[in-house]
Amino acid sequence: MPNIQFDADGRLKHFIGIEGLPRHLLFKILDTAQTFINPVDHTIQKVPILRGKTVFNLFFEPSTRTRTTFELAAKRLSADVVNFNMESSSNKKGESLTDLLHNLEAMYADLFVVRHHQSGAAYFIAQHLSPQTRLINAGDGQHEHPTQAMLDMYTIRHYKHDFVPLKVAIVGDIFHSRVARSQIYALSTLGVAEIRVICPKTLSPVGIESMGVKRYHDLTAGLKNVDVVIMLRLQYERMTSALLPSECEYFRCYGLTHKALEHAAKDAIVMHPGPINRGVEIASSVVDSPRAVILQQVSFGIAVRMAVMAMILGLYEQ
Ligand code: CP
Repeated sequence: MPNIQFDADGRLKHFIGIEGLPRHLLFKILDTAQTFINPVDHTIQKVPILRGKTVFNLFFEPSTRTRTTFELAAKRLSADVVNFNMESSSNKKGESLTDLLHNLEAMYADLFVVRHHQSGAAYFIAQHLSPQTRLINAGDGQHEHPTQAMLDMYTIRHYKHDFVPLKVAIVGDIFHSRVARSQIYALSTLGVAEIRVICPKTLSPVGIESMGVKRYHDLTAGLKNVDVVIMLRLQYERMTSALLPSECEYFRCYGLTHKALEHAAKDAIVMHPGPINRGVEIASSVVDSPRAVILQQVSFGIAVRMAVMAMILGLYEQ
């Protein structure tokens, strides 16, 4: 796939995936996000950076965290935000996706934030936009979820400070996970010592090792001495056949309990992009423990999405 994320001057124009993005740009996003967070009380003040700009949230798939934090981020940047309602749109009357986009562009859209169930949808849409319109991928099928990965990187840096010595384990439904793909690209580019994926054989992508990760099918072996544990839910909506015996059996083998967590480093943090399924991939007591930084991830997502929006609209240094 040619990298249409950059303009002729090498500036980030669309944010479709982490694959192929240079290390300095990932750090620039993290550093820019940090400037939006008050170091004392961790609040985010409203700033006039995107005043006069219009952001359309186009979510063809359900979302709680991503859609809401994009809306909050755009509002904190003083943009006008339209949460486009797919259920009540003329999309239902047979209007094509490209006609829909061109009509929204005629309403002076500057930026589309797009979530779609099809892998490659963000790339397709970006190719059909006018040169001045920007796009951020808010998750496309099994492909990538780049802002999720960047808020995850922000969280890891916040708690662990330096990426280089870290061992990071990603546990669960790796096969269907756009989050895992984006995280692996980001962790690899940021230079972590070791990336592990832990999953049942039925949820393991063929050739995952070519992404520079170690694959484990045993939870306790995979968790040994890791600094960061990232749990993923089972993505039933993308499964086309029965890939697991039962949720009970899955939890027995791959569910993160305090006992399993004992194999990780003593100060290991537990992350999850959400939505969580308590008692399926993670014990409720772990979710509610101080080891879990799951809600902090959500909060950091606002600043990280502010940074990406400000940078791709050309109003912030890259
Ligand atoms: N992590 C994530 O993408 O959550 P939502 O589906 O709620 O946006």
